[in-house]
Amino acid sequence: MTPYQILGLGSFIPAKSLSNDDLAKIVDTDDEWIVTRTGIRSRHVLDDSQNTSDMGALAAQQALNNAHISPDQITHVIVSTCSPDHLCPNTACLVSYQLGIKGAMAFDLNAACSGFLYGLEVAGGILANRPDAVVLFVCAEALTRRVNWEDRTTCVLFGDGAAAAVLARSPQGLAQVTEVCCHADGRSPDPLSIGGGTAFHVKNGDPVDENFFIRMEGREVYRNGVRRMTEMCVQILEKTGLTTEDIDVIIPHQANLRIVESVASRLKAPMNKVFVNLDRFGNTSAASVPIALHEAMEAGRIPAGARVLLTAFGGGFTYGSAILQFSAPDAAD
Ligand code: COA
Repeated sequence: MTPYQILGLGSFIPAKSLSNDDLAKIVDTDDEWIVTRTGIRSRHVLDDSQNTSDMGALAAQQALNNAHISPDQITHVIVSTCSPDHLCPNTACLVSYQLGIKGAMAFDLNAACSGFLYGLEVAGGILANRPDAVVLFVCAEALTRRVNWEDRTTCVLFGDGAAAAVLARSPQGLAQVTEVCCHADGRSPDPLSIGGGTAFHVKNGDPVDENFFIRMEGREVYRNGVRRMTEMCVQILEKTGLTTEDIDVIIPHQANLRIVESVASRLKAPMNKVFVNLDRFGNTSAASVPIALHEAMEAGRIPAGARVLLTAFGGGFTYGSAILQFSAPDAAD
C-alpha cells in the first residue's frame, strides 16, 4: 500500500461511568463474574441528550486541533460505526455539519469492531487516488443504546465512546500507516447482531422485541476473536517481513482480557507490550482501538520511533490489522 500519515488523534469518553456493582442492581450478575470472565470493571454510558454523532464531533474537533488542521481543509469525512444516529442521513454528514465542514465527501462505514482497521484501508485508497486529500476519520459508537439491559450475557460487555484521526499524505506526522490487512467471513445466522435495520419488520405502534437489541453467541464469538486476531497479526507481520520482536506496542480490540491474553500468548508477545484499557471502558466496538491508541499515546506508552501493531475483530465476522510507525524525535520536531 501507499503509506500515509496520521497527523493528529482525538477521543471523547462520556462522563457517566457504570460500574459492575451498578449493573448488579439492574441485572442478575456480580463484579466477580464479570471481572473473571472479561476483565471489565466499568464502562461509560452516553448521556440521553447526546448521540453517536455528538461524540464523533467532539473527538474529531480534538483530532483537528492536535493536527493543526482547520475544517475547511478536510476533503473527506468517514465515520466508522455500527450504532449510527439514523439509517439515513449518515453520521458523517451530521459530524461534518457540527464541525462546519462544507462540501467534503461524507459517508459511514460499518465493519463493527474492526471499523478502525477498515477505515484505515479505505482512507489509504482515497489518499493513493487523491494525494492532496485530507481525511477526517471518526470512529464513534453508542452501543449502550442497543444493549438489552435484561440480557446479562451481553449488557455487561459494551460501553460508549469515540475517537478520531486526521489522515493525509505528508512527509511528517504523528505516525505513518505502513500496512493494513482487512478481511471478512460473512455468516448467517449471525453469531453477533444488532437489530434495527430493514430485516427487523416493524409497523408504527409495534413494540420492539429482543431482536432489536445486541444478540450474541458468546463462545462462538470468543473462539473466532482469538483465531482471527492472531491470524491477522501473523499475516501483517509476514507481509511486512517483521516478527513480534520488531513490534514495540500491540493495541488489540478491547473486548475481553482473556481474548487479548490468548492472542498475545499465541504471538509469543509479553503482556507488557500490550495496551489494555477495557477494564475502564468495556467494548466500544469501532472506537475501541483508536481510543486505546490515543490513550496509550497520551499516557506515554508509545515511545518516539515505536512500531505499533493494531488488530481487531467484530461482527460479520470482520477482522483486520495495521502497522503504524511512530515518528522518531527528530522527525516529530
Ligand atoms: N453474570 C453472571 N453470570 C453470567 C453472566 C453474567 N453477566 N453472563 C452469563 N452468565 C452465566 C451463564 O448464564 C452461564 O450460566 P449457566 O452455566 O447456569 O447456564 C454461565 O455464566 C456461563 O456462561 P458462558 O456463556 O458459557 O460463559 P463464558 O465463559 O463463555 O463467558 C462471555 C461469556 C460473553 C464473557 C464470553 O463468551 C465472551 O467474552 N465472548 C466474546 C464476547 C465478545 O467479545 N463480543 C464482542 C466481540 S467484538
